[in-house]
Amino acid sequence: SASLRAHADARGKFIGTALATGPLSDEASYRTIAGGEFNQVTAENAMKWDATEPSQNQFTFSGADAVVNFATQNGQQVHGHTLVWHNQTPGWVQNLGATAMRDAMRNHISRVVGRYADNPAVVSWDVVNEVFEENGDFRRSFWYNTLGESYIADAFRAARAADPDARLCINDYNVEGINAKSTAMYDLVSELRDQGVPVDCVGFQGHLATQYGFPNDLRQNLQRFAALGVQVRITELDVRIQMPRSAAKDATQATYYRDVVNACLAVTACAGVTIWGFTDRYSWVPDQFPSEGAALIYDENYQPKPSYTAVHDALAGG
Ligand code: G3I
Repeated sequence: SASLRAHADARGKFIGTALATGPLSDEASYRTIAGGEFNQVTAENAMKWDATEPSQNQFTFSGADAVVNFATQNGQQVHGHTLVWHNQTPGWVQNLGATAMRDAMRNHISRVVGRYADNPAVVSWDVVNEVFEENGDFRRSFWYNTLGESYIADAFRAARAADPDARLCINDYNVEGINAKSTAMYDLVSELRDQGVPVDCVGFQGHLATQYGFPNDLRQNLQRFAALGVQVRITELDVRIQMPRSAAKDATQATYYRDVVNACLAVTACAGVTIWGFTDRYSWVPDQFPSEGAALIYDENYQPKPSYTAVHDALAGG
């Protein structure tokens, strides 16, 4: 039956995956599935600050370009990830004083976004990532501690200046349901847009775990953001289980994937769903959560799992 991307195209949505540059360069099965099943890609790591500007004003785009070139060859869109984050940002940035840090942030955004501004494949950016604590306070990152919350608006303005046509997103995790963190995000997006700050979309990462249950108010939450006039999207979906796998756990996981895709399909302003990888061979989950894993839609040998079928059938309208 048809690929995920064929069904997503027919629905006017994207189905995306995160790409790791290692297997992208040397594994045929990885490339075949990545190119054949998805109509959008995100660099898992290659566009982050430590990869693109490891030392000040020394830019390296080899990994980022590899992702963009792959996407171009395969007729895929690229979502840029991520410009301003507290992780994977070099020490030289973190140690700057306020004026120098603000200048470095603007320069970074200008150079990274600017590189792809005329490339029709690169359509959107995560401008700021994970700016909130779980209780809805601003995260006490080096960005916030040095610059205060104004770094967020400044980052969006710099990105708009670098590419007036790119869709500019704020992105976070644990904001799928209606809770203190997602309400803080809602209030911030509302306030920024009232101030004329160019925030075009909100990314809900979607790092789910079957042990914590499904966010049953996902659709309602997407809808309240849509009412602010922004596009919404699921940006980093995965559904980790307690290892080892079993048929029952696979089946539960598949319902989570199905329900996320269906929530996006039900909301006009939801542009699509990106899965954070596709094969359990390459996933951040076991590194971070040693007893958990198998979070993706293909197994370690590139065989589709029940979660693949669930995504497929949801996109197909079944
Ligand atoms: O590149 C080095 C390599 O040289 C070294 O040999 C190896 C040894 O550990 O590490 C490699 O770097 C790792 C990098 O991934 C590339 O594989 C880092 O240690 C590792 O920490 C890093 O993990 C990434 C993580 O972000 C870092 O925060 C994951 O791949 C990536 O999936 C994950 O993605 C994030 C999103 O960007 C934001 N939302 C949450 C999501 C999951 O944490």
